[in-house]
Amino acid sequence: MATSRNIKSLFDISGRNYIVTGGAQGIGSAIVLALAELGANVVALDIKTAPSVDYDSLAKTFGVTISYVQADVTDEKGLGASFQAAFKILGTVHGLVTCAGIALEKAFEETSWAECRRLQDINVTGTYFSTQLVAERFKQQGTGGSIVLIASITSHTVLPQHRMSAYSASKGAVRMLSEALAVELGGRGIRVNSISPGFIDTEMTREVRNANPVMSDVMTKTPPLKRIGTTGDLLGAAVYLLSDASSYTTAGDIVITGGLHVQTAFDCKLDI
Ligand SMILES: NC(=O)c1ccc[n+]([C@@H]2O[C@H](COP(=O)([O-])OP(=O)(O)OC[C@H]3O[C@@H](n4cnc5c(N)ncnc54)[C@H](O)[C@@H]3O)[C@@H](O)[C@H]2O)c1
Repeated sequence: MATSRNIKSLFDISGRNYIVTGGAQGIGSAIVLALAELGANVVALDIKTAPSVDYDSLAKTFGVTISYVQADVTDEKGLGASFQAAFKILGTVHGLVTCAGIALEKAFEETSWAECRRLQDINVTGTYFSTQLVAERFKQQGTGGSIVLIASITSHTVLPQHRMSAYSASKGAVRMLSEALAVELGGRGIRVNSISPGFIDTEMTREVRNANPVMSDVMTKTPPLKRIGTTGDLLGAAVYLLSDASSYTTAGDIVITGGLHVQTAFDCKLDI
């Protein structure tokens, strides 16, 4: 039980083993490095042929292992094999973070079946089956574990100046998946939570800002904290949710948006 005398040990994840999907870059890669810096061994899964970060040298610096396994979260057979490879590397698995995802900023009426299907396939189905594979592993191990799904502010509200209906639908599904699984798997000691980031400075948002400079202003000026988020802003929540510090937290969602998810309250005009 938590007491004020063991708070450090509650956050201690050293020696534990985690899997991070979408771990080649961006939020996934930042989480991989945070876990490794705290002494955990990590397998990063991603569709890219290689990560954007030199995991080998950083693993040496942190005295842990960081392995990279190429995986497509939409490939039914291939994903199972990639997770088996990760299990072989790690042995006992303590947790999963699902970061693999894509975004689409496009008008509803212009969005094609193919675009919508691909987005749901990666963001929803890929998250679903990555989680299923790890839950099955926990069962084989006879252990519980912690699963953190990366949802989005778009599961809470509509972004200013953005048209992201397909993406919002996918992230709403991810957040609800977290709640459904928290209930279904709770009896096995498996905790499932989500993190809902707002605008975070990664390749994903960089592409949108480069294509339309107005989006730079939207991302830096609309959050009440008046800046875009960094991947570093998400790390405390990820570590908290994976560690024993959150042992009674499940079906939760941590919103990290610089306040943007309630910004409409400030913009509300009362000249009616
Ligand atoms: N950046 C933001 O502002 C923001 C905000 C809210 C939520 N998110 C979510 O956070 C997660 C990470 O996003 P990011 O900003 O780091 O973006 P990113 O594009 O930098 O990283 C996403 C990663 O997912 C991988 N990926 C894509 N399709 C895949 C597939 N089929 N199989 C395996 N890997 C695949 C990509 O290769 C990439 O490495 C995504 O789910 C995204 O929707 C991002």
